[in-house]
Amino acid sequence: MPYGNVVLVETYFSNEEAHFVHLSSLRCNHVFNKGLTMNDIHKDVKDFEAAGAETGVLENTLGIASYDEILTREELSNIFTLLIEEFNVDFSQFKLTTVVRQVHRLMGVNELDTLDSYYELLRNNSDALVALKNALLVNVSSFFRDTDAFEQLGKSVIAKLLQKTSEDHTIRIWSVGCSTGEEAISIAIQFFEEMEVLNIKRQIRIFATDVDDEALKIAKQGIYPSSITNDVPQHILLKYFEKDGDSYLIKSAVRRSILFARHNIMKDPAFSKLDLISCRNTLIYFIPSMQRQILSVLTCALKDYGYLFTGMSESVHGFSYYYDVVHDRSRLYCKTKRPSLKYTNTHSHLASNPFTGHSQQFRSSLYNLENNASGTVEHEQLLSYVIQSSINPQLLSVWMPPSVLIDSHGRVVYIYGDIAPFVSKVSSGRVMNYYKSFLRKSLAVVVENAIERAIETNEIIQLQNIQLSANSPSDLDKNPSLSEKGIVSENIDIRVDTLASNDFDEMFSVVTFSNYRVNSDVVLDEFKPVHREKILEYSKALKRIEVLEHELQQSREYLKLTVEELEVTNEELQTSNEELLSANEELQSMNEELNELNGDYQDQISTLETSNQDNLQLLNAANLAVIFLDIDLKIKGFTAEAGQYFNIVTQDVGRPLHHFSHQLSITELPAQLDEVLAGSTVKLTTTLANNENRQVHICLRPYKVEEKVMGVVITIYPLEF
Ligand SMILES: C[S@@+](CC[C@H](N)C(=O)[O-])C[C@H]1O[C@@H](n2cnc3c(N)ncnc32)[C@H](O)[C@@H]1O
Repeated sequence: MPYGNVVLVETYFSNEEAHFVHLSSLRCNHVFNKGLTMNDIHKDVKDFEAAGAETGVLENTLGIASYDEILTREELSNIFTLLIEEFNVDFSQFKLTTVVRQVHRLMGVNELDTLDSYYELLRNNSDALVALKNALLVNVSSFFRDTDAFEQLGKSVIAKLLQKTSEDHTIRIWSVGCSTGEEAISIAIQFFEEMEVLNIKRQIRIFATDVDDEALKIAKQGIYPSSITNDVPQHILLKYFEKDGDSYLIKSAVRRSILFARHNIMKDPAFSKLDLISCRNTLIYFIPSMQRQILSVLTCALKDYGYLFTGMSESVHGFSYYYDVVHDRSRLYCKTKRPSLKYTNTHSHLASNPFTGHSQQFRSSLYNLENNASGTVEHEQLLSYVIQSSINPQLLSVWMPPSVLIDSHGRVVYIYGDIAPFVSKVSSGRVMNYYKSFLRKSLAVVVENAIERAIETNEIIQLQNIQLSANSPSDLDKNPSLSEKGIVSENIDIRVDTLASNDFDEMFSVVTFSNYRVNSDVVLDEFKPVHREKILEYSKALKRIEVLEHELQQSREYLKLTVEELEVTNEELQTSNEELLSANEELQSMNEELNELNGDYQDQISTLETSNQDNLQLLNAANLAVIFLDIDLKIKGFTAEAGQYFNIVTQDVGRPLHHFSHQLSITELPAQLDEVLAGSTVKLTTTLANNENRQVHICLRPYKVEEKVMGVVITIYPLEF
């Protein structure tokens, strides 16, 4: 068999019980639980061995198919459609590997070997569809999941939020993918604990949302099993939970601070102005593009300086520009003040507020992140428009020297006047609006340096007599536009001003070029001879610069390639990490099911033990002498009365009966017991060896289970008392 194992389930287990095989199925490509007897299983395994352990033989023998085919998103599209129609969740945005794994597993459980037959089952059987939905929405959760991270949340985030928030302000928190509520409750408790430490009282409001109605139902009830004692420290348990039989009920003070609601993070409108968002172990299930979409939604929903708390194998990958790391290992991030991130939601027409249902109103208040023009008078608007669009440019073109406005990323965002003499020759290819590729090379180096100094010192930087390299003879040949434009002076002045914009939270630099002269014959004649030698020297230097720049460019490209390769490896590692985590979560969820099942078995066993005890008590009370032997004639149980006839005590259970002497005057007991094992009932009367006057009646009967002899029951009763 190329990989995996086969699980065969004995008839003994009911269908429900048999679901414990799901655990094994994670590692198996064949799950077969149609219910076999032990003998069937034995025969199948023998056939399989005899056939040389070939997969095909196994499939033929057992009639099951191999699931090593790789399903594509397209092949699964019908199933995705069914799931959307029924649960309004688009699972095509979930990682394909997870979906395929679960589909294969459930096909095995239902003994189906083709995707079409599984699709038919899903179409006609709502339980099967719910089972698939539940398998895909792995809602494993626990209180204070990742203890260290929660501790760090308290220290580095919650304490700060409490201290910086005024009394009349409500701290707004969103737990995204809250599952059965443990995460939201843990955050609430952490807030209450910090309030106590800091002796501060604040209002908190936690929006806890999930797409899974069944999980939310549990969350709303707030009742948790006794196993939470493994995750919740004893003092917290006493303080915030009430014991109710075997369960724990969350106290109303905590419960009241949380609002649970259905919300699909892939498409429903987000909350806004949040101080803290916890989105843990949920992003990992989505494909990378959906992860990015969700991160952009969460980033918009946070206030400036609000905090984001992700799961241990998640991060703000791709959005680090918007966040400072608060604590890397705990995955705690603080949103920095940056230009607004525009949020576009393609599904917003479907969206509605999960708490009010007011879709339109909700959307406008949450999504309109860009400032709307306030209601100024029409005339004012017109005037401002005319000034900006027409008068300003005209005045600037007359009075302003050629300048470029550069943003903090080095992008040219505006050009004033004619700057053609200062820009590099345009060649075909991708358009770059970064000043470093836009300005002539030698000028770009000078400007870069000046901008850096201007930002560092926060002063105006003025550079005089900067030589324009294009005035070298070779450049003049290469760039005729220079002489066409009539620029003859090789020296210009450059001024760099920095401008901070509060509106955009951005730092701009204005680079102004001045003091160049326009061509005239007189100037040209005077200029040429004076500077020829100097220019030749200069052109040598320029050649050297060109070589160096070429080398630099090559190193940069090499570095870029290396960085890209590293990024790819990093992403791959991230993906496998996420894969591992989601598989782990699935395992946990199954483990929980197993524990539940185990609990049921324990109950059954104790019930059986009690009834066994009751039976023995009854037999003892009736002074009946009864001995139960197994198929090997070993003692399984006996009453006190029978013990006296055979000189046996409790410790002798499990030993063969023939090891013991007895008080009955019979010698042929072993042969008679064999007769009983063969199916006969033997009745005889005898006397006691030590008392000839006491007669006893002995009855040896087969112990049968489903018509099969499994042992012997011996009953002895005296004929006279
Ligand atoms: C593994 S649980 C994480 C629970 C909790 N955050 C934690 O870390 O303990 C993932 C949860 O994400 C929810 N989920 C999956 N897709 C979702 C979606 N599109 N919108 C909201 N919740 C979603 C699932 O229902 C599930 O309850």
